[in-house]
Amino acid sequence: MKLYHAPASPFVRKVMVLLHQAGVADRVTLIPASGHPLDPGTMPVDRNPLGKIPALEREDGPTLYDSRVITRYLDETLHARLYPAAPRLWDTLVIEATADGIAEAAVLMRYEMHVRPEPARSPAWAEAQWQKIARALTALEQRWMSHLSGPLDMGQVAVGAALGYLDFRQAERDWRAGHPGLAAWYAAFAARPAMQATAPKA
Ligand code: BEZ
Repeated sequence: MKLYHAPASPFVRKVMVLLHQAGVADRVTLIPASGHPLDPGTMPVDRNPLGKIPALEREDGPTLYDSRVITRYLDETLHARLYPAAPRLWDTLVIEATADGIAEAAVLMRYEMHVRPEPARSPAWAEAQWQKIARALTALEQRWMSHLSGPLDMGQVAVGAALGYLDFRQAERDWRAGHPGLAAWYAAFAARPAMQATAPKA
């Protein structure tokens, strides 16, 4: 299998953490791929017409995207067991969606302030993305700490990847302020070998 990959992407990181947890990270070929909303860059659009990473090229079927499709596929084929059975599954999926929303808003902030041509940048638009992140962090802190402290699942992996990306690209925003439970949880989660092996890099 080939994974179109960028070491800064929190969505790629979710997939990589799953592969490390399953002990098969060395069985996947990583293809460096760049791109952003103004240019698909080196991500082959015949593999993913949206020009986005991650995308997983399989031997036995069409290329898979986006990260949630890839993680469901790998979880099933590798028997990684990071998606529990229902009804716990619904909580896992909501937490994963919440974390992916945090990561997506943070990536959009990055694009707005560093990729969009300077005269067209909107700090108000970027701030609105941050408000979305702030609401989602509060939801995790108020509603989901007990689930996050339970058996490892993809909800936790997605939250770990999203918080790691906030540290990487939005450190000055200090997401830990007002979220002490999440901060303590992340300190322990980030020490896992699979998280250490996948820390974001520029
Ligand atoms: C980043 O450099 O922040 C980035 C790179 C690829 C995907 C998402 C984010």
